[in-house]
Amino acid sequence: MTNILCIGAGYVGGSTMPILASHCPEDRIVIVDINEARIAAWQSDQLPIYEPGLDEIVRQTRGKNLFFSTDINRNIAEADIIFVSVNTPTKTFGQGAGRAADLQYWEKTARQILENSTSSKIVVEKSTLPVRTAEAMERILNSNGNGLHFDILSNPEFLAEGTAVRDMQNPDRVLIGGRETESGQKAIARLVEIYANWVPRDRIITTNLWSSELSKLVANAFLAQRISSINAISALCEKTEADISEVANAIGRDERIGRYFLRASVGFGGSCFKKDILNLVYLCEHYGLPEAARYWEQVIVMNDYQEARFAANMVTSMFNTVAGKRIALFGAAFKANTNDTRESPALEVCRALLEEQASVVITDPHAMENAGYDLRELAQRVIFEPDPYVASNHAHAIAILTEWSQFTQLDYERIYNSMVKPAFLFDGRNLLDHKKLYEIGFNVYPIGKPPLTRLVTYGFKQA
Ligand code: NAD
Ligand code: UGA
Repeated sequence: MTNILCIGAGYVGGSTMPILASHCPEDRIVIVDINEARIAAWQSDQLPIYEPGLDEIVRQTRGKNLFFSTDINRNIAEADIIFVSVNTPTKTFGQGAGRAADLQYWEKTARQILENSTSSKIVVEKSTLPVRTAEAMERILNSNGNGLHFDILSNPEFLAEGTAVRDMQNPDRVLIGGRETESGQKAIARLVEIYANWVPRDRIITTNLWSSELSKLVANAFLAQRISSINAISALCEKTEADISEVANAIGRDERIGRYFLRASVGFGGSCFKKDILNLVYLCEHYGLPEAARYWEQVIVMNDYQEARFAANMVTSMFNTVAGKRIALFGAAFKANTNDTRESPALEVCRALLEEQASVVITDPHAMENAGYDLRELAQRVIFEPDPYVASNHAHAIAILTEWSQFTQLDYERIYNSMVKPAFLFDGRNLLDHKKLYEIGFNVYPIGKPPLTRLVTYGFKQA
């Protein structure tokens, strides 16, 4: 039996470890966190994160070989392998503020491991970290002077929220980086054995530590870059009557380009894309590569532009004023099938509309609590309404901001009849049947397609 500890019971720790526990019934897995409320929620029927399929796996493993605890010190002492999946947000102060990763939680964890260890251990970086972080980790941990040895591995997580269970059950690849020393290679082999319980060996890639750390940042940068690329073209489509879905399909059919991650949208959100690209930009600057830094920075500039452009189009289309107008935002989560609203474009649009003094109503099947939290003091000016029919009643406009399938099943005729006319619908996800909505009577504004409107607003006039 191996005693496995995961420090950090957030989205990553909380969704990966139950699956690991389900595939390694002989091993004992404990997840710890400093956040007592979070641990209590993991021990209850109401898990702290919404992730399809996760409840069932937690129910099957909890109390058997999966445990949640706030006793970090004791569990460190007992562990053979420690995964660290604490948060690594963008630094908000001092050197590198607004760009570099804030490694304070990470370093505190390293010191806590050092203080409470009575045996040698493998420490696995699961959090996303700047390249060469393991060097500092090694220095801290192996400065113990009591003969203990710590092998540091990098095992970045590639799951996406909303599909975490599927991604962890059936990953495209598992990446494990370690030192080229005998002990480092042994540590790699031990972690490979754990994953090999359910992941085919040819999908387990082993590399040196720095390649592994850097690959995680690069994977996110490439994914986000595709979205910014298609969103840049969506702006051009709106000026030229080209259709972004047709363009995405036409280019995506080229196998070299590929068809995934080409959905134009109001922008990308989530806790990681922006933070990881900022981190990459900071690293490029740190290593004296300003041209490379500017190149990656543009992915974020483009995303900010897309969010701002969407909100500005709403105001322009609605006769240049939304002050006092009720606007229903359909969706607050940064993507469907999650309750996470971190960096959600929906909240950016919400902030922009509040700035214009609109009366904003948010409806979302799972993310309203987090939206209220993330909007902070602005939340007092927003109405949170679980029923989309009530949210859109007497509204001047609806904006689709998260691609929840629930929104495709609504009776839009009923919604239209309850709205102020002319009724506007801005589809920030190209989720709905625009032609049908136009026939009902809506003025429809998709992303990267000509609007379907009876009004002259964009310079196009339809019908
Ligand atoms: P999160 O904020 O949801 O969870 C982090 C948890 O760590 C929190 O519950 C926090 O209380 C806990 N923590 C912080 N310091 C601690 C300490 N000293 N001791 C014990 N617990 C502590 O973050 P997350 O979304 O799970 O992300 C964690 C890391 O994984 C980040 O580096 C992120 O970039 C990376 N990542 C996230 C995702 C994702 O989909 N969210 C995917 C891949 C990688
Ligand atoms: C992303 C990566 O996909 C994961 O591989 C990675 O592990 C994770 O970040 C991380 O490091 O945190 P996630 O942010 O959960 O996962 O979700 P994605 O599916 O990547 O979506 C990110 C954002 O891009 C969402 O706002 C989504 O709506 C948007 N998006 C995605 C588009 O606008 N268009 C697309 O074609 C795809």
